[in-house]
Amino acid sequence: MEVLAVSSEFFPLIKTGGLADVAGALPGALAEHGVRVTTLLPGYPAVLAKLDHTEPVHGIGDLFGGPATLVAGRAGHAKLLVIDAPHLYARPGNPYVGPDGRDWPDNPQRFAALARVGADLARGLLPAWRPQVVHGHDWQAGLLPAYLHFSGDAADAGTTRPPSVMTIHNLAFQGQCDAGLLAALGLPPEAYGIDGVEYYGSIGFLKAGIRLANHVTTVSPTYAREICTPEGGMGMDGLLRARGSAVSGILNGIDTHVWNPAKDETLAERYSHKTRDKRAANKQALCTRFGLDPARLLFGVVSRLTTQKGLDLLPTSLATIHDLGGATVILGAGHPALERAFQDAARPGEMGLFLGYDEQLAHLIYAGADALLIPSRFEPCGLTQLCAMRYGCLPVVTRVGGLADTVIDANEAALAAGAATGFQMAAADTPAFERTLGRVAEVWRDRAAWDRMQANAMKAEVGWERSAARYADLFRGLIA
Ligand code: ADP
Ligand code: GLC
Repeated sequence: MEVLAVSSEFFPLIKTGGLADVAGALPGALAEHGVRVTTLLPGYPAVLAKLDHTEPVHGIGDLFGGPATLVAGRAGHAKLLVIDAPHLYARPGNPYVGPDGRDWPDNPQRFAALARVGADLARGLLPAWRPQVVHGHDWQAGLLPAYLHFSGDAADAGTTRPPSVMTIHNLAFQGQCDAGLLAALGLPPEAYGIDGVEYYGSIGFLKAGIRLANHVTTVSPTYAREICTPEGGMGMDGLLRARGSAVSGILNGIDTHVWNPAKDETLAERYSHKTRDKRAANKQALCTRFGLDPARLLFGVVSRLTTQKGLDLLPTSLATIHDLGGATVILGAGHPALERAFQDAARPGEMGLFLGYDEQLAHLIYAGADALLIPSRFEPCGLTQLCAMRYGCLPVVTRVGGLADTVIDANEAALAAGAATGFQMAAADTPAFERTLGRVAEVWRDRAAWDRMQANAMKAEVGWERSAARYADLFRGLIA
C-alpha cells in the first residue's frame, strides 16, 4: 500500500518539536505492516542540504509567486519528495518565524504550497506513482483536503481522489489567514463556507483539514476526548464533535533505535534495564557539568518553554525541591519571560540551566536525571515522558492528554502490584505540583520501590509497534 505523508518537519532533517519525531519514525514502523510511505516536505535549506540520491521529478512554473522543482530523494531509509521553491523556503533558521521571532508574513502561501503539491500528487501528478491514501500532519498540511475537495472538475471526482487522513499534533496551532487571500491561494469562491475553509471570518488551515479529511486522528485517546469538549477544544470542539466517529486517537511512540540507552553513543556510559546501576555514571557526568551534588534527587527538564508545558510553576518551587533534598537540571528554549525567570532563579549547586536546543544534552538528561518534570496544562501526546521511561528516568506528569495515557501513577495499588512507571498529578498548579514533588521524594527514599519503578519504566512499551498497526488498519479501512 502506498501512502503520501505531508509534513512540515521530519527528524533528522528539520525539527522544532515532536511532530518531527513522529513524521520521521512512523514511515519505518508502517513498513513492517506493508505500508510504504513517501513524505512530502518543504525545501528548507536544512532539508535540501541533507537529502541523498536526489533527482528532479517535476517542474512547476509558478507555485504562489515563483518557480519550483519537485525533487525526489532519500534520508536513510526514508523516501522523500521535497519542494525546492527558493522564493518560499530558502530562509535560514526556524521554519515558521524570521530572525525577529515573528511569523513569516507569507506563511499562508508557504504552507498552502505544501498542501497544493500534496493534493496534486494525490491526483496523479507523477505518471509513475500515485498514493492510495494521503496523510497530512498539522495545520501546515490542513488545506490539502480542501484542494482535493474543491479544485478539480466533476469529471475527475470519485476514484481519482484518494482518501485523506488529517493528524492533529497540537490544536493550539491552527494556521489562519485573511479571507481576502482565497483566490491567491487558488481556492474557488465556493470553498469559503462553513463546510469548507471558512473559520470565524478567516481562512482556517487546520479547520479545513478537520472538516474535509475523510478521517481525523490525534496523538492520544485522551486528547481525542479532550478536544471534543469546550475546555479542551480551542474553538474547534463543535466541529470535532460533529465529525463523530471520524475522529480518533492513536498514541505516539518513539523510535526505539534512536532512543536506546544500550547503544547510545552520546552517553557517558551505556546501559540496559538489567545494568541500570550504570546510570550512575551518567548522573555523575551531568552533575559535574552543572556543578551539582549527585547524591541529591535529580529532577530534569527537556522542553519547549511555553504556557502549554506548565514550567512557569517551576521557578517558585525550586526552593521546595531543594528542601526535599533535590536539585534540578533544565534544558529548554522558548518564551523570553520564562527564560529570564529561570536565569533569575538559578542558584549554584541547586539548579543547572541550559537555554537552547541541544539534542545530545537531552539524551544525557534522560540517562542521568532521576525524574523528569512535565507539568503540562495540556499535552496532545508528549514524547519526553516516553524517552525518559526508556532511559529509566521517572516522569512526573499532569494527568492530561497523552501523559495520562502513557504513565502509570505510583499510587498505593500500582506500587503494590509493581506496575508504577511514574507520577501523575491532578492539575498544573503549585499545590498539586509540590504535593507530587513530595511524593516523588518519599518513594525515592525507598530505594527498593524506586528501583522497581525504574525497571518497569525501562521495560514499558514505548515504541511504534501497536500504534503503527492502528494507522495501517485505518488506512486499509479507508480504501476497502
Ligand atoms: P512538543 O512537540 O510539544 O515540543 P514532545 O514531547 O512531543 O513535545 O516532543 C519534544 C521533542 O523535542 C522531544 O524529542 C524532546 O527530546 C525534544 N526537545 C524539546 N526541547 C528540547 C531542547 N531544548 N533541546 C533538545 N531537545 C528538545
Ligand atoms: C505536539 C504536541 C506533543 C506531541 C507532538 C507529536 O508538538 O505538543 O504533545 O507529542 O506534537 O505528536
